[in-house]
Amino acid sequence: MLKAKDLLGLRTLSTDEMDEIMRVAIPMKDIIMRDIKKVPTLRGKSMATLFFENSTRTKSSFEIAAKYLSADCTNLAVSTSSVQKGETLIDTAITLEVMGIELFVMRHGASGAPHFLGRNTKARIINAGDGMNEHPTQGLLDMFTMKDKKGDLGNLTVTILGDVAHSRVARSNIWGLTKYGANVRVVGPETLLPIELQKMGVEVYTDVDKALKGADVVNVLRLQKERQSSGLLPSLVEYNKFWGLTSKRLELIKEDGIIMHPGPMNRGVEIMPEVYEDPRSVVDEQVTNGVAIRMALLFMMLGGKTSDEIN
Ligand code: CP
Repeated sequence: MLKAKDLLGLRTLSTDEMDEIMRVAIPMKDIIMRDIKKVPTLRGKSMATLFFENSTRTKSSFEIAAKYLSADCTNLAVSTSSVQKGETLIDTAITLEVMGIELFVMRHGASGAPHFLGRNTKARIINAGDGMNEHPTQGLLDMFTMKDKKGDLGNLTVTILGDVAHSRVARSNIWGLTKYGANVRVVGPETLLPIELQKMGVEVYTDVDKALKGADVVNVLRLQKERQSSGLLPSLVEYNKFWGLTSKRLELIKEDGIIMHPGPMNRGVEIMPEVYEDPRSVVDEQVTNGVAIRMALLFMMLGGKTSDEIN
């Protein structure tokens, strides 16, 4: 069971809670693989997605997860909603809550927005990405994938490569993996490595070759071009030259190491197309696992009590 009403980040989640989510995700993945991908577990339950920033994977996987579990999911189209007439976040959520919504999945450009919503609604909140703070369901699906492919998280060396400064994915990976005792290395241009990394229990590198050497996992971050303020990067071509994951650099990780990327990818910038196509790439499996993790969370937060209720 989750201790808090809301799932806001991995910084505040215990390893027991993360273990339970990943344990419940295993039978959920079985449902995804079935011919008939539907169980009645959450019939009669209502949730809504509130996305104030764009998304393909996270938004659609929550919607698909709800459908597979028979919950009703409303997707509020923020750009055509009364938010555009000036309605506040709280008033928007309360309006949906009094219609019967029990859980909100929210993405917002402001760090802390889901925390604020959680304090002001009775409904449960899942943070689907808040500014540069956290993206906990991505962190969970990444760890679920690493555990599935490589075993005990505490024995792994995980290299997080790229635009760490703007990355909520990096922060959730770091908070989660360090709790399990994984050896987490972060590497990228100095201008994209935030100062707070020193206090997060990771090894900070500026030499990409050293950071990749002997890694079990390389998790390549998307270069967040939309969040770049001027002066942080020379050019995308140079970024690729100095920091992009190429076939040559891939030779440095362990022979059985895996390649991850949260998506969406800038092919030819932070990752070369042939690296994504390498047999060690688990990028597509991360997306499938994202549905399983989100099914597990909906099950745990919308009333599922025991694993027996899944089927
Ligand atoms: N990884 C991720 O959050 O992707 P989307 O922006 O498509 O949801």
